Amino acid sequence: MQGWLHRSRDHGGLIFVDLRDRYGVTQVVLNPQRAPEAHRVISESRPEFVLEVEGDVAPRPPGTDNPGMPTGAVEVHADVVSVINPCLPVPFGIADEADVDEQLRLRYRYLDLRRTRMASNLALRHRANKYIRDFLDARGFLEIETPILVNSTPEGARDYLVPSRLHHGEFYALPQSPQQFKQLLMVAGTDRYFQIARCFRDEDLRADRQPEFTQLDLEMSFVDEEDVLAVVEELFTSLGEAVGKHTINRRFPRLTFAEAMERYGTDKPDLRFAMPIIDLTDIGRASAFEVFRAAVVEGGVVRCMSAPGSADYSRRQLGELEELAKSWGARGLAWAAFQGDEVRSSFAKNLGEGELRAIRERVDATSGALLLVVAGPADTTASVLGRLRAELGRRLGLIDESRLVFAFVTDFPYFEPDAQTGGVTFVHHPFTRPRDEDVPFIESDPLSVRAKAYDLVCNGYELGSGSIRIHQRAVQEAVFRALGLSVEQTEKRFGHMLRAFEFGAPPHGGIALGLDRVAMLLAGAQNIREVIAFPKNQSALDLMMQAPSAVDQDQLRELGLSLSNDPAD
Ligand code: AMO
Repeated sequence: MQGWLHRSRDHGGLIFVDLRDRYGVTQVVLNPQRAPEAHRVISESRPEFVLEVEGDVAPRPPGTDNPGMPTGAVEVHADVVSVINPCLPVPFGIADEADVDEQLRLRYRYLDLRRTRMASNLALRHRANKYIRDFLDARGFLEIETPILVNSTPEGARDYLVPSRLHHGEFYALPQSPQQFKQLLMVAGTDRYFQIARCFRDEDLRADRQPEFTQLDLEMSFVDEEDVLAVVEELFTSLGEAVGKHTINRRFPRLTFAEAMERYGTDKPDLRFAMPIIDLTDIGRASAFEVFRAAVVEGGVVRCMSAPGSADYSRRQLGELEELAKSWGARGLAWAAFQGDEVRSSFAKNLGEGELRAIRERVDATSGALLLVVAGPADTTASVLGRLRAELGRRLGLIDESRLVFAFVTDFPYFEPDAQTGGVTFVHHPFTRPRDEDVPFIESDPLSVRAKAYDLVCNGYELGSGSIRIHQRAVQEAVFRALGLSVEQTEKRFGHMLRAFEFGAPPHGGIALGLDRVAMLLAGAQNIREVIAFPKNQSALDLMMQAPSAVDQDQLRELGLSLSNDPAD
């Protein structure tokens, strides 16, 4: 038997060793009378030595078996132990699952991955990938690899560039997604494509973002939105049951973007708890309270939320909530706490006759509820209440961690104002098809155009994003013009797509799911680095390989590059 020395306990004479491999641990007993040399070798071995043990497998003595372990009924009485490879003192314990500084874990990732939780995350990810491949194969999807050395494809992030040795001064871009290739595969007649695809984006990192990450990328021909959503819904409910321990909703609600923003203040709502945002704009418009009225007169809204069981919040706690709301952009946070017939409130004294009753009835605030009201522009009010909702959901323990609650968000706007250029930019990506009835307004009134785009969201995360695509040259050209691209720029960057659309492109659409985020939720982790074997840290560094790193002058010369010495450049 071979494996790592996981743990050893010296009982003054007998030594008990747990020998570990990927499949678990086995107890080995070293008796100084039976095998003095083996006993000596073990007493000189440290955790993580690689050992070979020869001996007899025997039942454990009555009363010492461990039913919680697959090998808990037996032990090995060792005769011979040899050290296959010693191990330096480890920088952190493998056997205990104690919290260890993440930078240290990343530097010694090969040790970190020996720990049970990380090893089981890798196994879960493998099972999820295998399930997905089998599921899609059974439904006629072909897995097709697309290139990594490509041209820039717009997904809204910065590109990673690769200099060309054969063509000095020219660069490949690493794909932000296989978007254009999968559409061209539809023009090629592939009909149903998928890929577990590596994508690269040079953007600010967060707990759910890595510079390179993995998408489950899908595309289908002759489909409309519901056909794509149906495949995703069936895949995720069955995947969750196959590899996860969570309860999953069978039918994913479809919320429009406008509904999601109004009810939850975000386009990725956590639907594990209710606590919806409720509109009071009509009451605010006629209110005796100047702050509410002014917000509505200025074109804004008055919205609120009723937090259950929080009416006993102290002044200090309420002040803290208000500070949070202000840090997110609110002008203030009005509150009312209902305790039986008693009301404490920051604004009730400013209201007219019967107003508070009308508000309380509208939101159905029961005894014990704390009402939180924000008045102001629609977008900041939505986002402040959305963030408060998420914060209070956590603080009040309203979230059932054993559930995954999926939903689709649909009907996104196509364009949004671009602060930099004063024009418009795309919300999803420029290959998305506008709703048919909005096509005539692409150039004349772009901000009114809705996209045939949809997101898959779960527990407050955006898991995926997709759309039905443009398959006609004229519509695609109109979108590029609305984005402010000249004919020359369009031809240079996207001429190949426009041409392909003229060679009998079928209608098509698809989606890409962030597999790291999916695995993170299935594993119950808080961070995608926990489900990636070798991730980058928050500064995009690979601490184990020490990447990125400087290169030789010769390499630069071959590539036709020289570095500026001024670090400010
Ligand atoms: P999008 O850019 O929304 O769409 O990406 C799809 C999904 O990929 C995941 N994701 C990320 N995960 C980890 N780190 C990142 N830096 C990162 N960026 C994105 C998210 C996201 O929902 N081509 C389109 C899809 C399509 O239209 O079919 C696309 O890439 O979970």
